[in-house]
Amino acid sequence: MEQINKISDIRNRVNELKRKGKTIGFVPTMGYLHEGHLSLVDEAKKYCDIVIMSIFVNPAQFGPNEDFDSYPRDFERDEKKAEGRGTDIIFYPDVKEMYPSEILTWVNVEKITDVLCGAKREEHFRGVTTVVIKLFNIVKPNVAVLGQKDAQQAAVISKMVEDLNMDIEIKIAPIVREADGLAMSSRNVRLSSEDRKNAVILSKNLFMIKEGIDEGKELSRLLEKAKKSIQAIKGARLDYLEARSYPNLETVNTCNGLCLIALAVYFGGVRLIDNILIENLS
Ligand code: PAJ
Repeated sequence: MEQINKISDIRNRVNELKRKGKTIGFVPTMGYLHEGHLSLVDEAKKYCDIVIMSIFVNPAQFGPNEDFDSYPRDFERDEKKAEGRGTDIIFYPDVKEMYPSEILTWVNVEKITDVLCGAKREEHFRGVTTVVIKLFNIVKPNVAVLGQKDAQQAAVISKMVEDLNMDIEIKIAPIVREADGLAMSSRNVRLSSEDRKNAVILSKNLFMIKEGIDEGKELSRLLEKAKKSIQAIKGARLDYLEARSYPNLETVNTCNGLCLIALAVYFGGVRLIDNILIENLS
């Protein structure tokens, strides 16, 4: 596996590969890799000759009171995991390389960034879309693979690519979970052992809602039941739990067509998100 830190170097390498007729699959990450990230490498390999992964903890998407400093980082560990999974090139720039001067140009997707996590994390999504468009312009991939774990982020990036006619195919891969159902996340290591055990309540309730919808139960009742169940857990603070259409993220009273049930829950200072997509064609 090659490691590249400079924008000019990765550009030269990608141009060389493209001259040889190779297609490029891209997996953007913030590192501290787990099976969820690595499943995206597997997915990229299905479509492309070369897989490039970026590891960059992007300061522009963290608010002033958020966890940029405490976000877990371990490049050596990540390198081994990425290489073991067959990543061809790892792009690992530092903050100065990505933001050499104050950034004055932001890419902002409207409307669908005003809800769910966007309503709670001001300016988060403009930080995401701006760094992702920068990474896309640097890596020039044919295909980029994102995880459904961040369903709103996937919808926002897909809309940006559509609206700006970017010549990149976006693939969205399913959520990878721990054995007990907790969605894998780099932030899980920051949970206390008690919170880690209790965090299973997130996926349990999402699965309960899906089962209820499949059985024809009323959405509002299922949401209420799930909220109560999460609020009853010691140490858990519900940030939101909502049902929305997908990918337009409009409020819904019933699950028709493709429906996203998404939630965010704090355990101490750790904010976990999870979701489930329900296709209801009845
Ligand atoms: P990060 O949280 O590191 O996630 C990188 C990619 O891995 C995202 O597409 C995310 O949805 C996916 N992912 C994370 N956990 C997953 C899981 N359990 N199952 C499947 N996929 C999972 O998302 C970001 O970084 C950043 O916002 C980024 C897009 C890199 C821009 O900075």
